[in-house]
Amino acid sequence: MYRTHNCGALRIENVGEEVTLSGWLQTSRDFGGMTFIDLRDRYGITQLVFNMDDDADLCQKARKLGREFVLKATGKVRERSNKNPNRNTGDIEIEVTALDVLNASKVPPFTIENDTDGGDDLRMKYRYLDLRREQVQNNIIFRSQLALETRKHLSGEGFIEVETPNLIKSTPEGARDFVVPSRMNPGQFYALPQSPQTFKQILMVAGLDKYFQIVKCFRDEDLRADRQPEFTQIDCEMSFVTQDEILATFERLTKHLFKSTIGVKLGDFPRMEYDEAMKLYGSDKPDIRFGMQFVEFNDVAKGHGFAVFDNAEMVVGICAEGQAESYSNKHIKELTAWMQRPQIGAKGLVYVKWNNDGSVKSSVGKFYSDEQLMTWLEKAGAKKGDMLLILSGEDEKTRKRLNELRLEMGRRMGLMKEGDFKPLWVVDFPLLEWDEESGRFHAMHHPFTSPKKEEVDRMLNGDHETMKSLKADAYDLVINGVEIGGGSIRIHDRALQSRNFDLLGFSKEEAEAQFGFLLGAFEYGAPPHGGIAFGFDRLCAVLNGQNSIRDFIAFPKNNQGRDMMIDAPSPIHDEQLEELSIDLRKQEAH
Ligand code: AMO
Repeated sequence: MYRTHNCGALRIENVGEEVTLSGWLQTSRDFGGMTFIDLRDRYGITQLVFNMDDDADLCQKARKLGREFVLKATGKVRERSNKNPNRNTGDIEIEVTALDVLNASKVPPFTIENDTDGGDDLRMKYRYLDLRREQVQNNIIFRSQLALETRKHLSGEGFIEVETPNLIKSTPEGARDFVVPSRMNPGQFYALPQSPQTFKQILMVAGLDKYFQIVKCFRDEDLRADRQPEFTQIDCEMSFVTQDEILATFERLTKHLFKSTIGVKLGDFPRMEYDEAMKLYGSDKPDIRFGMQFVEFNDVAKGHGFAVFDNAEMVVGICAEGQAESYSNKHIKELTAWMQRPQIGAKGLVYVKWNNDGSVKSSVGKFYSDEQLMTWLEKAGAKKGDMLLILSGEDEKTRKRLNELRLEMGRRMGLMKEGDFKPLWVVDFPLLEWDEESGRFHAMHHPFTSPKKEEVDRMLNGDHETMKSLKADAYDLVINGVEIGGGSIRIHDRALQSRNFDLLGFSKEEAEAQFGFLLGAFEYGAPPHGGIAFGFDRLCAVLNGQNSIRDFIAFPKNNQGRDMMIDAPSPIHDEQLEELSIDLRKQEAH
């Protein structure tokens, strides 16, 4: 038997018992006559004691062991003289009478502790060691719990989990596909699913009514802290539902997940139209833990001889409460430089301070009187001590930049409070997005998203400009500024779907070749349906107040899309290439 208890189990009540534990050597301390070893497993750490006077051989043996050796120790539980209140097992220790070394270990390349000295790359290469760290292990355990609660809740609401295939045909979620060559069909490729979108819609045609799946999705896109090339969705679809019913269903799921995993009771979720989100926050995923909504200054700022504002399409700013006195010229300079970095690309930043003594100070004070600047402050609802930060330029770009500034000020001012969760439904997304570069419309969500009922006529008969203003039954769930999920009511009418493909620039033949199976299915009694998918990794991170989803994925990829541990992707043998009818030389020549 390897163990009678795990390393997190023993308490003062167990004193006097003979026990056996197995685990890894976390640390050992040698005090001449006594040697202490901290033995670790998934459940905790227990202190082992070896006494020179009791058993010199055993004590000598213990002294020779290195970090991460795998040990089995038998002994008696005794009360500790100096207790460790930070540890569940801190009241006791084991007086060891027998010790087996189950396996030796090389010296690990970084410390297996929460505050590790290992850099990112090293930790990813030795992910099995990284995963021994309590913090990372807790994240993975949390993930398992979240999946379990998701399954419990959704099956309780009558959803059926159905697996959909991974070797499929391109799905239109807007990223590039990962493709897999087919040996049996030379020159042909499967695509890995960017999502199970088309399959879940077909499951609705098949009458499954309420589907869900915790499912891997694959997207070949640029990677960031909240994006992985393979990630997981809680994917759902429902028949005979309105948008309101879908939102209510997933609001219940979200509330259940917050309550059951972190004990947080969420209130009802507010809704905001996409247009309003862009106007007030310059973002379709506003963090509403704090205000600082945008204020437009065109009417008061233009026509006073300050050419930058006079020539701008939009002059828009935010009011940073209580910041007038904390921002010296040096601070403003630094903030301006931050905004001018290429990632943001602002040309400049204008401030108006209303000092505590009532005086007004501004970087554009030459062009405007104090009275004029007061009207700006009033417009923004400012109080003494507040500071306006103003940008100008082309409308959309300026709002996007101001969004970055608002978030940065939110961070600097400590307004993104840990443990504060502010969910928001963003609704009424545009159906189509005009892309100047390619001279084409793109689907804002995906090509199966339905326009709002009252828009159908305009969509079928309207002109080019009308198409730009069509609104869809499409929605996102945003929590603390993170897009957690997105979905829509789908088009289930063939004529409307054809019109959508037309607008998206698909010829009849192209639409048929890519989505013929779905369009065909729609001709056999497709019910009205809609759904949503949550980013499961993102949900894990947000529930834990973190930005990076990598820490919640057992084996993530790095920013170059590489798995550092197994060293993938990697070249394959010539024979394998040949079998797959792939001739790299031909491609190189090409
Ligand atoms: P969408 O493309 O909005 O919708 O994706 C749904 C959610 O998946 C998460 N997500 C990602 N998470 C990590 N890494 C990525 N690369 C990544 N890409 C997306 C986000 C996002 O909100 N089929 C539709 C859903 C539907 O219409 O029902 C879809 O996939 O949290």
